[in-house]
Amino acid sequence: MKVFHHRRDISQHIASLKKEGKYIGFVHTMGALHDGHISLVRLAKQQNDITVVSIFVNPTQFNDKEDLKRYPRDLNADLALLENKKCDIVFVPDEKEMYPEPDLRVFSFGNLDKVMEGKYRPGHFNGVTQIVTKLFDITTPHRAYFGMKDFQQLAIIRKLVADYGYPVEIIACPIVREADGLAMSSRNKRLSHEQRKHAALISKTLYKAYQTGNSKPFDVIKKNVVDTINKDPYLEVEYFDIVDEKTLQPVKDWGIPCRKIGCIAVHAGDVRLIDNITFNS
Ligand code: PAF
Repeated sequence: MKVFHHRRDISQHIASLKKEGKYIGFVHTMGALHDGHISLVRLAKQQNDITVVSIFVNPTQFNDKEDLKRYPRDLNADLALLENKKCDIVFVPDEKEMYPEPDLRVFSFGNLDKVMEGKYRPGHFNGVTQIVTKLFDITTPHRAYFGMKDFQQLAIIRKLVADYGYPVEIIACPIVREADGLAMSSRNKRLSHEQRKHAALISKTLYKAYQTGNSKPFDVIKKNVVDTINKDPYLEVEYFDIVDEKTLQPVKDWGIPCRKIGCIAVHAGDVRLIDNITFNS
């Protein structure tokens, strides 16, 4: 496994691999790797000749500087895990390498980034887009892999690729869950023992809502989800919305013809967790 720290070196290396006709699969990460990330690496390895993973905790996507400070980091463990999974190339730049100057670019996504994460974390998706575009430019992948836990991020990256004509295929990968249903996330590492136990209620409640489906009106389902989770002393819902998969705008009733996704953000103390579920109807 080759580890690069400088953009010019990795770009040159990838360019020479592409000249040999190799297909490049790319996984963006912020490190603190778990089985969710590894599922992306596994698929990238199946579908491409060369798998590239980036590890960079991107400061511009943190609207809360405390959250940035507390974000879990364990580079040695990440590199050992990637080596073990037979990843080919890892890119570990530092902040100066990625932002030699402040990035002043402002991206616009219409209404896609005005709701949910975009509403509660102002500037978050602009920062994500800044780093994702820089890393696309450096690694020029044929395919890039993103987890569906960050459902809104995925929709925004698809729009970015369409708007800017990036020649990369975006591959969405299913949420990977712990045995009790909690969606895997680097942030889970920051939960206390008690918070971790209680956090399983989030996916359990989403699953109940899914099972109830269109037998109950939207408002009733939404209220049930929020009330059930808020009754737990360790958890507090920030938002729960049922949205159109494509537009991400809240849907008012089951009759609207679109795929509907229930998206949630919950605080467990100072740890913020997100999850989502796709409804059948
Ligand atoms: O999903 C993430 O971990 C981050 O938003 C990403 C895509 C690696 C960009 O920093």
